[in-house]
Amino acid sequence: MKKLEYAIETHNLKKYFDEIHAVDGIDLKIPKGSLFGVLGPNGAGKSTTIRMLSTILYPTSGNATILGYDLLKDRKEIKKRIGVCPQELVIYPRLTARENIHLIAQMHGIPKTVYKERTDELLGRMNLLDRADSLSKTYSGGMKRRLNVLMSVIHEPELLFFDEPTAGLDPQSRRVVWDFIKNFQERNSTIILTTHSMEEADDLSDALTIIDHGKIIATGTPQDLKGRLGEGDNIEFKISNPEMRLDIIERARSLDFVRSGKNLGKQRVVLNALGGLRRISEIMDAVKVEMYDISVRANTLEDVFIDLTGRRLRS
Ligand SMILES: Nc1ncnc2c1ncn2[C@@H]1O[C@H](COP(=O)(O)OP(=O)(O)OP(=O)(O)O)[C@@H](O)[C@H]1O
Ligand SMILES: [Mg+2]
Repeated sequence: MKKLEYAIETHNLKKYFDEIHAVDGIDLKIPKGSLFGVLGPNGAGKSTTIRMLSTILYPTSGNATILGYDLLKDRKEIKKRIGVCPQELVIYPRLTARENIHLIAQMHGIPKTVYKERTDELLGRMNLLDRADSLSKTYSGGMKRRLNVLMSVIHEPELLFFDEPTAGLDPQSRRVVWDFIKNFQERNSTIILTTHSMEEADDLSDALTIIDHGKIIATGTPQDLKGRLGEGDNIEFKISNPEMRLDIIERARSLDFVRSGKNLGKQRVVLNALGGLRRISEIMDAVKVEMYDISVRANTLEDVFIDLTGRRLRS
């Protein structure tokens, strides 16, 4: 058999819920063994995409090939080979962490000797071993989320879907989950990870797609996507009179080192300028109004999103 180049190929995949076009024609090629990010704001269609690709939902139209299998026809074969960590917690509160994992392992038909050892290894890697025998309803939100992630990987699937696995976690737990996820990639699994955190998408993904209103607006490596914005820094600030935003952008753009300006809504403006930090005082002189809450940053995926949509990813 020909060696698979892509773990997933989608063809004009759509999901409509009556008049809501949750996913509106997605074409993706996800290389085998990669960690692929799906980044987008609330309601963009990330979970719906994951739910279609992981056989939880049927598409309205379009199709996909998953690990060489047809998404519409070979659902059983696909189910056997994938792991899904849904956005909502699916743990049994009256079972302990260990029992929750064992239950899932039994459902997958994994022999007891194998799953017992594997469970303890996984619990250890998620820093949950010392609480492994407490009822999961007594866990903190972060502990429940880490358990939710563990339960999706006990059968060591070739393809893993993580839907916002780090939502609500503190930075330290987030790091633990990131390391955990990366470890699966090292074992040659393909990983699809949705997030609305651009730091997460940037740090973890080999490549990512940005979706908005059910459509892909850009796909590439984090470096490619940020590189498309050029060399300037982004200077974001607030002004007291929101009606001045467009005038201020125009005034700033009269400076030759200011490459572009965007109105971010409310009182916010972002300018892209070469040599950003050193030249703030010149910008202040040019715009002739008080700028406050000023931040300067190199291009982030947030700026890619702003450039493409005129909106912030985080509202
Ligand atoms: N079962 C459903 N019935 C009706 N509408 C739905 C259903 N599931 C999702 N939607 C709608 O589809 C759109 C996309 O939802 P989806 O959950 O895929 O977004 P998301 O990108 O995962 O957002 P979030 O970041 O908030 O998780 C939303 O407008 C949502 O209300
Ligand atoms: Mg979602």
